[in-house]
Amino acid sequence: MPPIFPETTLRTERLVLRPFTAEDVDDTRAACSDELTQQWLPLPAPYTVEHAASWCTDVSHRLRTSGDGIHFAVTDAESGRLLGTVGLKKTDWPARVSEVGYWAAPWARGRGVTAEATRALGEWLLGAQGFQRVQLFAATANTASQRVAEKAGFQREGILRNAGYVHTGRVDLVLFSLLPDDLTG
Ligand SMILES: CC(C)(COP(=O)(O)OP(=O)(O)OC[C@H]1O[C@@H](n2cnc3c(N)ncnc32)[C@H](O)[C@@H]1OP(=O)(O)O)[C@@H](O)C(=O)NCCC(=O)NCCS
Repeated sequence: MPPIFPETTLRTERLVLRPFTAEDVDDTRAACSDELTQQWLPLPAPYTVEHAASWCTDVSHRLRTSGDGIHFAVTDAESGRLLGTVGLKKTDWPARVSEVGYWAAPWARGRGVTAEATRALGEWLLGAQGFQRVQLFAATANTASQRVAEKAGFQREGILRNAGYVHTGRVDLVLFSLLPDDLTG
C-alpha cells in the first residue's frame, strides 16, 4: 500500500478547506462549466451534473486513498459556500514532492481566495506533512494563475516547452515551486 494523506480540514482567516461532499455538486458543475475554467483546464466539455457528482462524492476521495494526492473544497468560512478548489496530485512520496492545482468559481475570483488557499496548502504540506517541494504549472498565457503562484510565495523556475494541453491545443508551461525555506525567508 502506498502512503496516503490523512483526511484533513484546513482553516485560514476567510476560508475552510475540507473534503468535497454531495452538497458541492451544483456549484462544482457551474464552476467547471465556466468559460475561463474550460479555457485553462482540460475538463470534460460539456461538464455535466454527473461529472460533478462523480468528482464530489467519489473521484476526489479515491485520488486521496490511492496515494496520488488530496483535493480540497475551498469554502467561505462564514457562509460555507463553495468558492473553488486546491489539490495535490502526482505525489512522489520517496522524493517528498507533490504538485498543486486549482480553480476558483466565477463568483469568488479576484479576492485573493486562491492565493490564500494555495499558501495554506503549501504550509501544511511542507510543514506537518514533511514534504520538500511543491510544484505548480501554469500556461504562459494564464496570467491570473501565475499571479496566484507569486502571491502564494512560489518561485518561478522556467518554461517547459510544449508541456501542457488545453482544449484548444498544446501550451508552454511556467514551472513554479515552493520549498520549506521559502516559507521562512
Ligand atoms: C487562476 C484562478 C484560479 C485565480 O483565482 P482567484 O481566486 O481569482 O485568484 P486571486 O484573487 O488569488 O488572484 C488573481 C490575480 O490574478 C490577477 N488577474 C486576474 N485576471 C487577470 C488577467 N486576465 N490578467 C492579468 N491578471 C489577472 C488578479 O488581478 C490577481 O492579482 P492581484 O491580486 O495582484 O491583483 C482563476 O482565475 C481561475 O479559476 N481560472 C480558471 C482555471 C485556471 O486557470 N486554473 C489554474 C490552471 S494552472
